[in-house]
Amino acid sequence: MRKTHVLVVDDDENYRNAVQRILQRAGHRITTAHDAADAMRTVSTEHVDLVMCDVKMPGISGLELVRRIHEAEPDLACIVITGYGGAEASVEALKAGAFWYLEKAMDGDSHDVLRRLAAQAIEHGQLKAENRRLQQELQGRYHFDNVIGQSPALRNVLDVVSRVAETDSTVLVTGESGTGKEVIARALHFSSPRAERPFITVNCGAIPEELLESELFGHVKGAFTGATHHRIGRFSMADGGTLFLDEIGDMSPNLQVKLLRALQDQTFEPVGSSETQRVDVRIVAATNQNLEIAIQEKRFREDLFYRLNVIPIESPSLRDRDGDVALLVQHFLQRFCERNSRGPCTISDDAVRQLMNHDWPGNVRELENLIERLVVLRGEGEIGIEDLPANLRQTASIRESAAPPKVPEAGLSFHSVVDRFEADLILQALEHTHWNKNQAAKLLGLNRTTLLEKIKKKGLSPEE
Ligand SMILES: Nc1ncnc2c1ncn2[C@@H]1O[C@H](COP(=O)(O)OP(=O)(O)OP(=O)(O)O)[C@@H](O)[C@H]1O
Ligand SMILES: [Mg+2]
Repeated sequence: MRKTHVLVVDDDENYRNAVQRILQRAGHRITTAHDAADAMRTVSTEHVDLVMCDVKMPGISGLELVRRIHEAEPDLACIVITGYGGAEASVEALKAGAFWYLEKAMDGDSHDVLRRLAAQAIEHGQLKAENRRLQQELQGRYHFDNVIGQSPALRNVLDVVSRVAETDSTVLVTGESGTGKEVIARALHFSSPRAERPFITVNCGAIPEELLESELFGHVKGAFTGATHHRIGRFSMADGGTLFLDEIGDMSPNLQVKLLRALQDQTFEPVGSSETQRVDVRIVAATNQNLEIAIQEKRFREDLFYRLNVIPIESPSLRDRDGDVALLVQHFLQRFCERNSRGPCTISDDAVRQLMNHDWPGNVRELENLIERLVVLRGEGEIGIEDLPANLRQTASIRESAAPPKVPEAGLSFHSVVDRFEADLILQALEHTHWNKNQAAKLLGLNRTTLLEKIKKKGLSPEE
């Protein structure tokens, strides 16, 4: 079992040491700080279970410290140590968010009170944290039901997810950006027997190489410049739960070796330590890169790939999910309307049809962002085609007018039909814009030079 970690904050060294001795004997791990700033540094870099702090300290007072901690870490219990008869201070302490207060005395009885109070405060904090976690889970933001879509492509994926959720097998989720790889990873965790344990994410692409190792495996105090405290890594945080290694394709070759070892025997050493640690984590990795190409280009280790790719899941792109666009549109519409507390928000059938025709290179994320923008910009009432951004309106008008001619039995001359077809589109755009070539080029999605060349080549001119 991990030792509970108590931070003792007091500018009075004698008292600090006395509290440290008493609590250490009760089995806690102790860190001390001589002022509030020092304490805040520890709280922001390490996991702390209890803060015991003096009221009167030079600089930021103990009460202000409690207020700041309460804001940043509402579940972290604080006990305030007041002077003799500090009735007023004790009321203030509770108001600031302290769990309880204690008079500064050091006789035999008070040792006992101190130990018991510390144990109660820690338990209270842990219960609060547990409660919050359960509530979040109940809200089920990431549960299966919230993976929107009925398309066969998505159903196949969810089918695999529900079958592998029971196991501890490593899963590799691939797919284009914005297709919901993280959504799939969370659905997997929260429908697995590990659901009550943590789901921990590491974005391997966003963290610089030199920090990523300590992020994953933790470090000991003094392991490198700036490592002023012992710190646990994400592998340990995820113990009993799931570790989601996002953007795995961006991991440096050096770290790939260390990760491979951690995956093979579920052991690792924190940076700067030779002590081997063992954890029980289920790994889900994700990438939008093609790892087979990365292997050929020697950017990704083949052995790591096979270790990760035990259960491959490909998150389908939105254009391959027949019918899902309409469902997602309704889902996001409802969500953003609620969030913006606006009246019933609807979208016209025409507009939905238009969205279904788009090919969504940014996938679900692009659709989500668009709906949010439309809700905010529209304010109230129905969203119609005219509210859609120009590129989405255009696709349809071009598509409609661009139905190609049928190939007759007798055949046709491909080049001349295409030529005429092009000329027709260009003429329409020019007439529509009263021969404003800039605007016509925009309407056609061509650059101006290309349009001018075509006009010249085809000998097009305004009809008299
Ligand atoms: N099936 C779905 N139902 C509801 N929301 C979804 C679905 N798929 C994706 N989303 C939403 O789309 C956004 C993008 O999803 P996510 O972050 O999981 O994509 P990703 O594949 O990890 O993208 P990237 O490769 O860019 O990291 C998120 O806001 C997510 O909530
Ligand atoms: Mg992602």
